[in-house]
Amino acid sequence: MITERERWTSRIGLILAMAGNAVGLGNFLRFPVQAAQNGGGAFMIPYFIAFFLLAIPLMWVEWSIGRHGGKFGHGSMPGMLDSMWKSPIAKYLGVLGLWVSTIVMIYYTYIESWTLGFAYFSLTGEYFGMDNLTNMESFLKSYQGAGEGYFSSILTAYIFLLITIAANLFILYKGISKGIEWFAKFAMPTLIFFGIVLLIYVFTVGVPDPINFPDRSVWNGFAFIWNPDFSLLSDSKIWLAASGQVFFTLSVGMGTLHAYASYLRESDDLALSGLSTASINEFVEVILGGSIAIPIAVAFFGLTTATAIAMGGSFNLGFVSMSVIFQQIPFGSLIGFLWFFLLFFAGITSSVAMAQPVISFLKEQFKFSQKKAVTFVGIGLFVCIHFVIFFLKFGFLDEMDYWAGTFALVAVALIEVVVFAWIYGMDKGWAELTKGSDIKVPRFFYYIIKYVTPTYLIGIMAFWTWDSAIPTLMMKGVPAENVPYLWGARLMMLTIFGLLVFMVYRGWKMNDHKYEHFNDNIKAKK
Ligand code: PHE
Repeated sequence: MITERERWTSRIGLILAMAGNAVGLGNFLRFPVQAAQNGGGAFMIPYFIAFFLLAIPLMWVEWSIGRHGGKFGHGSMPGMLDSMWKSPIAKYLGVLGLWVSTIVMIYYTYIESWTLGFAYFSLTGEYFGMDNLTNMESFLKSYQGAGEGYFSSILTAYIFLLITIAANLFILYKGISKGIEWFAKFAMPTLIFFGIVLLIYVFTVGVPDPINFPDRSVWNGFAFIWNPDFSLLSDSKIWLAASGQVFFTLSVGMGTLHAYASYLRESDDLALSGLSTASINEFVEVILGGSIAIPIAVAFFGLTTATAIAMGGSFNLGFVSMSVIFQQIPFGSLIGFLWFFLLFFAGITSSVAMAQPVISFLKEQFKFSQKKAVTFVGIGLFVCIHFVIFFLKFGFLDEMDYWAGTFALVAVALIEVVVFAWIYGMDKGWAELTKGSDIKVPRFFYYIIKYVTPTYLIGIMAFWTWDSAIPTLMMKGVPAENVPYLWGARLMMLTIFGLLVFMVYRGWKMNDHKYEHFNDNIKAKK
């Protein structure tokens, strides 16, 4: 059944919304940590290779699958794959794409709420006084409810979480153009502006203590990120980490680019718009994200400590080290606010994207109204997030991030590229990708999409499974007391997966999708 879909109202709105989807906590928190943990400059080489051979092709494939699915009224992967592949299993493979964004949304929203809390604390000076890394870390842990310290309960974090969820739901209620597009038009320029201010500020820091620590400088921080030590490239871990980061930051393999692209018109360009959003994301990640947290940590703590901070955990660089530095610099309160508020905007324009596939799914398969679909997702999120909050210290969040936010992305990407290039067919796929295009897509991408990307993905999948998925699955090196909680995380993820499979089954029974495969030329009614 084909009903009129909502549409993006302007090209700039579409690009900003898509950039908002991609630009997220991954650019500012995950990227610097990954770079520092994986050899700095050496990381950037596999990073850029993965960007050109995996991310750009996959991004185009996802936009094409999304726009194609939108023609049939599908905003999530089950319907999209179903409309490209005449097989009853296509829709079930698509469930994985729906599942990934849903799971990531659950923990991502909680992290996003910390950034709002810390933006507020920067203004009020709440953490001023926690003037070394140890104290600041215990401040953060106690805020998260993961340890003793400044906060005696989780209440403060809970309040910021409720505000964050409410803000997300508010944007989602308003829909694609009046909600997501409207918000991105304001949030993205603001975020980039804050990022540039911070970048300039970092340059002015230079060498904070030239007498005692002349080698602790911003410049040494930059050198660390940009001078590759080629000998590290033989370590396969770096290659895995780099592809993982490229996937995460561009929101590839998540089902969310597809969802946004399904609100394009059939004749809209996707090649150039896609490339523009990927470029914005890389500017924000490599130039802004790469120039703030690491260089300034090297300037204040020296290279060895800065790397140790990054090794210590995903949030130490962004929350702990930054907050200690804000206490030592002029206008620290304001600069701290800019940093954390930038993170909040980056986060919220991504978390609304994660909710979109499920919302579309509920509306399309079960004829839910916008309000009803958003309420449903809101309730689900609210319930599940409690497990993340209360079991944080047992590694619940990391377990979800590993399976949904790292491993499954590659699986989803492999599925979609095979369906697109080999089942739907590369010639039809190429026609879909270049239809209405405002640039000439170089022909060699035809071959990259058909051969190189799938091979690369299979290589990563195989190696990843061997190197890290199996040990993680067996919980190697996990403290015994965490084991039951990690099983809990797996159970929750599996339950959600099962629920989605069931919903796809029901949804297809209720709706008659069976002619879609045969007639690619059906047009959405104007
Ligand atoms: N790309 C986002 C980031 O860098 C994360 C994201 C994941 C966004 C999944 C949408 C969907 O933080």
